[in-house]
Amino acid sequence: MDLYEYQARDLFAAYDVPVLGGVVASTPEEARAAAEQLGGGLKVVKAQVKTGGRGKAGGVKLAHSPEEVAEKAAAILGMDIKGHTVHRVLIAEGADIAEEYYFSILLDRAERRYLAMASVEGGMEIEQLAVERPEALAKIAVDPIVGIDEAKAEEIVDAAGFKPEIREQVKHTILKLWDVYAGEDATLVEVNPLVLTSEGKIIALDGKVTLDDNASFRHENHAELVDIQAEDPLELKAKQQNLNYVKVDGEVGIIGNGAGLVMSTLDVVALAGEPYGVKPANFLDIGGGASAEVMAAGLDVILGDPQVKSVFVNVFGGITACDEVARGIVAALEILGESATKPLVVRLDGNNVEEGRAILAEANHPLVTLMDTMDGAAARAAELAAK
Ligand SMILES: Nc1ncnc2c1ncn2[C@@H]1O[C@H](COP(=O)(O)OP(=O)(O)O)[C@@H](O)[C@H]1O
Ligand SMILES: [Mg+2]
Repeated sequence: MDLYEYQARDLFAAYDVPVLGGVVASTPEEARAAAEQLGGGLKVVKAQVKTGGRGKAGGVKLAHSPEEVAEKAAAILGMDIKGHTVHRVLIAEGADIAEEYYFSILLDRAERRYLAMASVEGGMEIEQLAVERPEALAKIAVDPIVGIDEAKAEEIVDAAGFKPEIREQVKHTILKLWDVYAGEDATLVEVNPLVLTSEGKIIALDGKVTLDDNASFRHENHAELVDIQAEDPLELKAKQQNLNYVKVDGEVGIIGNGAGLVMSTLDVVALAGEPYGVKPANFLDIGGGASAEVMAAGLDVILGDPQVKSVFVNVFGGITACDEVARGIVAALEILGESATKPLVVRLDGNNVEEGRAILAEANHPLVTLMDTMDGAAARAAELAAK
């Protein structure tokens, strides 16, 4: 889960990372009140959207009074930034910036460890810096068992070339940011920019944090950070039913058992759909126990996607045998009744396949087409979706 900047700011503050005062607001009136609460001085009104480059898009504006804060908030709220509508703004204290730096910690899956990156050349987008001036971006491997300790923080500060008078402060901030990363089970903590103010203080001025959802059982408080409003409604519905569902952009709904089988089903459908210009609509793994309820819940989610034109049910009977799955499909169609309106192409194989096919043949549901092979079924589902 990606966090909004204001959520990252709150986490940083809880871990003693130096940040500026900030209050989130969702109306110009709230923005004015937030400015008054923060006290006098320069304020910055910042669009809260889960994408970068807000500054360039006009989503970060300075304001000199509570009135101006309200005005700027009115201008930014409702704005569209790279396809994200702004529903909230962060009213932050304004910093007098002398220099801008970059720092991040991320999960390096390929190397099975963490990676810290730091640069004293801020201001530029980090992707651009990495391409154009890779030597200006220090990359330091971090052993996940050891983490970032004093020695590692020193190594990072040296590699990036922070100037002597701020080394201690930067080191301290890096150690605190590591505490956030480790303490919250993050896969990304990025500060861009980390700034030096004209008073000589190091401050995290922007924060991007990604939390590892697989660790959410260790963090009760992370549930509060989920922005239900911004979640895809189908993904939310699937999550509430404990289904492993990811929506993608396409017309052929997919249900299978086992992540590997479902992934290859997406590939096969993508290939089969090419001549028709149709694509897989989702990933949905109903797992091992494909009961009628689970099948019905899965179908319900997929059929709720208006883009879906046909559904491919691809099941390999294992511990849950094909006859149980077939009964699940029949029962699911009964549960869904009139709300099931799109053609279903079913391919069953594996344990008790003959019994399974017999059950579907017997039910003879008008929406169901039974196919023998995965490729044949993919082609049929693509053809039906194209109609
Ligand atoms: N609190 C602040 N005080 C002064 N300037 C700020 C403040 N927050 C952001 N800025 C300026 O706006 C720029 C963009 O803001 P940032 O939070 O990094 O958003 P984004 O990365 O989405 O563009 C920063 O690089 C900084 O120059
Ligand atoms: Mg930034």
